[in-house]
Amino acid sequence: MKSLASYLALVLYALLAHSTSEDLISKSSVCRNVPGSSGYPTPAAWDAFNKTISGRLVGVVPSAKYCASLPGSCTDAQWGSALFRSTIPGATDQFNWEQGYDLKPPSLCLRNSTTCGQGDVPLYSVEAETAADIQAAVKFSSAHNLRLVIKSTGHDYLGRSTAPNSLLVRTSNFKDISFSDSFFIGSKNMGSVVTMGSGVYSHTLYEKGKAAGKIAVGGAAATVANAGGYVQGAGHSALSPTFGLGADNVLEFHIVIASGELLQVNSISHPDLFYALRGGGAGSWGIIVSATFRTFPTFNATSSLIILVAANHTVLSSITTLHAQHIFDWDSVGAGQYFWAVTNGTGSDAFSAFALNTYMPDTTPEQSLTLLSPFLNASLALPGVFLFSQNFTYGDINDALFQPDDDVGFNTVLGSRLIPAATYRHSPEAVGKAYEKLLAGGATQILGHLVAGGKVAENANISSAVHPAWRTAKTHLVVSSSWDDSASLAEIHEIRNFFQTTQVPILEEITGPHAAAYSNEADLLEPSFQTTFFGPNYAKLSSIKKKYDPNDLFIVGAGVGSERWDEWGLCQV
Ligand SMILES: Cc1cc2nc3c(=O)[nH]c(=O)nc-3n(C[C@H](O)[C@H](O)[C@H](O)COP(=O)(O)OP(=O)(O)OC[C@H]3O[C@@H](n4cnc5c(N)ncnc54)[C@H](O)[C@@H]3O)c2cc1C
Ligand SMILES: *[C@@H]1O[C@H](CO)[C@@H](O)[C@H](O)[C@H]1NC(C)=O
Ligand SMILES: *[C@@H]1O[C@H](CO)[C@@H](O)[C@H](O)[C@H]1NC(C)=O
Ligand SMILES: *[C@@H]1O[C@H](CO)[C@@H](O)[C@H](O)[C@H]1NC(C)=O
Ligand SMILES: *[C@@H]1O[C@H](CO)[C@@H](O)[C@H](O)[C@H]1NC(C)=O
Ligand SMILES: *[C@@H]1O[C@H](CO)[C@@H](O)[C@H](O)[C@H]1NC(C)=O
Ligand SMILES: *[C@@H]1O[C@H](CO)[C@@H](O)[C@H](O)[C@H]1NC(C)=O
Ligand SMILES: *[C@@H]1O[C@H](CO)[C@@H](O)[C@H](O)[C@H]1NC(C)=O
Ligand SMILES: *[C@@H]1O[C@H](CO)[C@@H](O)[C@H](O)[C@H]1NC(C)=O
Repeated sequence: MKSLASYLALVLYALLAHSTSEDLISKSSVCRNVPGSSGYPTPAAWDAFNKTISGRLVGVVPSAKYCASLPGSCTDAQWGSALFRSTIPGATDQFNWEQGYDLKPPSLCLRNSTTCGQGDVPLYSVEAETAADIQAAVKFSSAHNLRLVIKSTGHDYLGRSTAPNSLLVRTSNFKDISFSDSFFIGSKNMGSVVTMGSGVYSHTLYEKGKAAGKIAVGGAAATVANAGGYVQGAGHSALSPTFGLGADNVLEFHIVIASGELLQVNSISHPDLFYALRGGGAGSWGIIVSATFRTFPTFNATSSLIILVAANHTVLSSITTLHAQHIFDWDSVGAGQYFWAVTNGTGSDAFSAFALNTYMPDTTPEQSLTLLSPFLNASLALPGVFLFSQNFTYGDINDALFQPDDDVGFNTVLGSRLIPAATYRHSPEAVGKAYEKLLAGGATQILGHLVAGGKVAENANISSAVHPAWRTAKTHLVVSSSWDDSASLAEIHEIRNFFQTTQVPILEEITGPHAAAYSNEADLLEPSFQTTFFGPNYAKLSSIKKKYDPNDLFIVGAGVGSERWDEWGLCQV
């Protein structure tokens, strides 16, 4: 049972394209300057720039090369720690994004390898400490036509915080966090808020929130930056059914835009940019210095972790049908829930389990168990299901959401879809069938998020770039695929494309065609990312992009305007 538990622990902690349409009118290809281009800054120009930012320019190497340079290299614990990796400018948490699989020739830097290429890792980083550092970096990039990338924590699942031959601006040092009982937009008092720098981790928010007696909407993660990629994508939370999305609760940003200006952005100051920054996609608008979010008085909640073991995939799928049938059971208390179907193979020795991590505000453990029991009892009545463990914890919601670190450092790609509430209401059996097909097709981890409905649906009238599919969704389903460093390039290629080739058609049986996905936890290779991630908002987002970033300084994979650029954002297509 120990191995079972540690396998599950691994899985639980592991939780958490571009259309190359050619312009008919041929135009000379426009590229960013890279080393060797005539317009690339000279060493003297880099030095002079470095002086303007108080010497905060550093050379960047892939994390494996960085580790190799340390005495004794990095321990496994360091390698897999998001906190440790965030000290390495070149590191991404999903290690695969550091690799230049698609470069010609491929450029890789694998752990413990004797040779090492620069891969998809930037050349220099501005380790910014002030807004003026960011402004200088933006102006230098524009003046020298450089590829610019932004990173806060390096969590990105689509590799949007790294690019080859680029200049990186890291905002990890923006760690200020402060709470206030009033916050004015114009003459209107918006009430209690927290203002966070774009380097503040979610667990810092929970730690400080508890001390302040407040709670704000944040993710189920230790080190995601709420004021970085999280809020720009939409930002879901176990509290979303009660309070809405992260983007529904942000009131103001301070952001450096492509011109180098530092703007205050809210519902009355640059409201079009405010619209875009709430759901219009991470990394496409400018460099956020800080953001202000609504807070609520903190409260107690019951959080629970329940693990059911299933005899085989058929039984596991039956549990998922029951789960779909019971998913509205917990709406009365505004519960948020993460639920995993995991398996390690299709053979007779395969291990399969269904785990639920549920957060119920203002609910005692007894009440919580009562609400979960109809689902649990029905599942346990199935032949081949047994209860592996259940654990109920009651206390401050900040404690319930606090995690010390995130377990990262793997090669991981995701694919996802938002699943409509109507599917759960009208055809829960179809949900179970989809799980069965995904498992038969080789999926090993299917992570569900009950983070919509409730307040997320009620917030449908908020005017923001959040995909309207969020307002009618019940869950966000994510499939993930991983590989280890021994995989061949051909195998990696197949795994990277697995979601598009195999899993999308299965998920679209329960979502309908052309369904939406959450842009922060999704597949970089979505062929129609414009509609999948941004739906009817794309045209408006494109025009806002033209206004604030006319020269496409801020381009990320599958982001607004990226259809004009190659995979690396280095040359226009
Ligand atoms: C372990 C884990 C748990 C997660 N849990 C949740 C969850 O519960 N809910 C949820 O909604 N999402 C969750 N996510 C997804 C998360 O929201 C995204 O990965 C998000 O992009 C992270 O933002 P970041 O700034 O921390 O990451 P980074 O990789 O640093 O950046 C992500 C994107 O944001 C841009 N960006 C970063 N900083 C700035 C800045 N200062 N200004 C402008 N753009 C910036 C980057 O360019 C990039 O495009 C989780 C991810 C992980 C790895
Ligand atoms: C920038 O200046 C600092 C301080 O002088 C120096 O330590 C650092 O190496 C310089 N960065 C680069 C890339 O030369
Ligand atoms: C790399 O080396 C470390 C430390 O020597 C070791 O723990 C780890 O397993 C190795 N990893 C790989 C992928 O070879
Ligand atoms: C799956 O995990 C179980 C329990 O840890 C183990 O006994 C089994 O060998 C594993 N099967 C595969 C295919 O890895
Ligand atoms: C579930 O089963 C337990 C144990 O048999 C029982 O006490 C409880 O009443 C059942 N709950 C429901 C809702 O059926
Ligand atoms: C799965 O397990 C159940 C319960 O033990 C059993 O009845 C069923 O025959 C099994 N199905 C397969 C395909 O092995
Ligand atoms: C249950 O949760 C508590 C509090 O988080 C923890 O101390 C305990 O180890 C957990 N028990 C199990 C069996 O996981
Ligand atoms: C919250 O729970 C703690 C015990 O974990 C208890 O001491 C405290 O009184 C509770 N607070 C409220 C408001 O119920
Ligand atoms: C949205 O509707 C709710 C009532 O359903 C109302 O309280 C709120 O002010 C509306 N918000 C906007 C932005 O229109």
